[in-house]
Amino acid sequence: MNIKPLAPRSDFPLLAGDPKLHYLDSAATTQKPQAVLDAISGYYERDNANPHRGAYTLSAAATEAYQTARDSIARFLGAADPDTLIFTRGTTESLNLLATAWGHANVKKGDRIVVTRLEHHANFVPWQQLALATGAEFRICELTAEGEIDLAKLSELVTKNTKVVAFGHVSNAIGTVNPVAEIAAIAHRVGALAVCDGAQGAPHLTVGFDSLGVDAYAFSGHKMLGPMGIGGLIAKRDLLESMPPYQMGGDMIALVGDNATTWNVLPHKFEAGTPNVEGAVGLAAAVGYLESLGMDKVHAHETALVRYATERLATIEDLTLLGPPAVRRGGLVSFTLRDVHPHDLSQLLDAENIAVRAGHHCAQPLMRALGVNATTRASFYVYNDSSDVDALVSAVAHVRERFAATV
Ligand code: ALA
Repeated sequence: MNIKPLAPRSDFPLLAGDPKLHYLDSAATTQKPQAVLDAISGYYERDNANPHRGAYTLSAAATEAYQTARDSIARFLGAADPDTLIFTRGTTESLNLLATAWGHANVKKGDRIVVTRLEHHANFVPWQQLALATGAEFRICELTAEGEIDLAKLSELVTKNTKVVAFGHVSNAIGTVNPVAEIAAIAHRVGALAVCDGAQGAPHLTVGFDSLGVDAYAFSGHKMLGPMGIGGLIAKRDLLESMPPYQMGGDMIALVGDNATTWNVLPHKFEAGTPNVEGAVGLAAAVGYLESLGMDKVHAHETALVRYATERLATIEDLTLLGPPAVRRGGLVSFTLRDVHPHDLSQLLDAENIAVRAGHHCAQPLMRALGVNATTRASFYVYNDSSDVDALVSAVAHVRERFAATV
């Protein structure tokens, strides 16, 4: 099999500088193309000032750069109203924003919060803690044997007192791609909020927020070729307008009286303090790069790599692949190798220049249900090709042979 990279490795300075590296940890963070690095340095070389605060030309340039970035990222994610994109540090902050600001204003004792067994801690712990703080019931929807959300169980769990259903677009731990519209429809039947963790969705799939069906969608820039420390929350305008602010400070106010304060309009109401303009500009360059590749092609490329990887890994004795079949899986494979601890395996792979993540993947509730402490995960992106899969498979097979020889 010869699957070529979708994006040339030469576009990514780190990969170009380390030709032997098989980088298979893009679900954790992606490498950055030169276009993103150039956009960030260009911003600092030409436009840097504090946006929204100065009447001088340079501050206006920074404001313009920040707003233009918001417009392009909102368009990329399918939100017609760019002011409903709130910049945050990433998915984690976006979900905490919702659970804190919306949650404390809307959830009370006797209500129910529903999450799923697949969730990353960022979409589990904030809701669990909200339930503990308010006295609401916290319920976890279990999975089918193939690691997919059991929609029949979800329908039963989402009762009239349910206020929110929080779920991921794509599982970071085992790759399950969830039926977002169907889950949102189940939530909406009882008037609950449908909140989607898109950390592993936005980098790999066309999101189309306005027709996706959810009320809120969280994402991280660094998982989609952008810089760290920038991401966002896209939400329905009426939801954002009805929520109290999350953090207080500069830029998010309209009028500050001695005893009361009124809030600025969207998106500023949720962006207290000096914003991360460099991050927004870098992320806008990243989505421009992804648009030039085409998200359909990004998805098709990853699917081809995952199919190839699952077929080849399945031939290794003692290796167990976790999660749904390749056709219903995002761009990653997660597996165990009998008694070889994933941390040991990942170190042995590292010695062969193969970078994978090993551990619980910030999904301990899922690991418990799967009956494992940890897995080894290889995740693919636009710069990977079949030689990365070949290197992974032969290195894992080699470890398996050494392991077999010792028992
Ligand atoms: N959430 C990131 C991952 O899955 C860090 O690796």
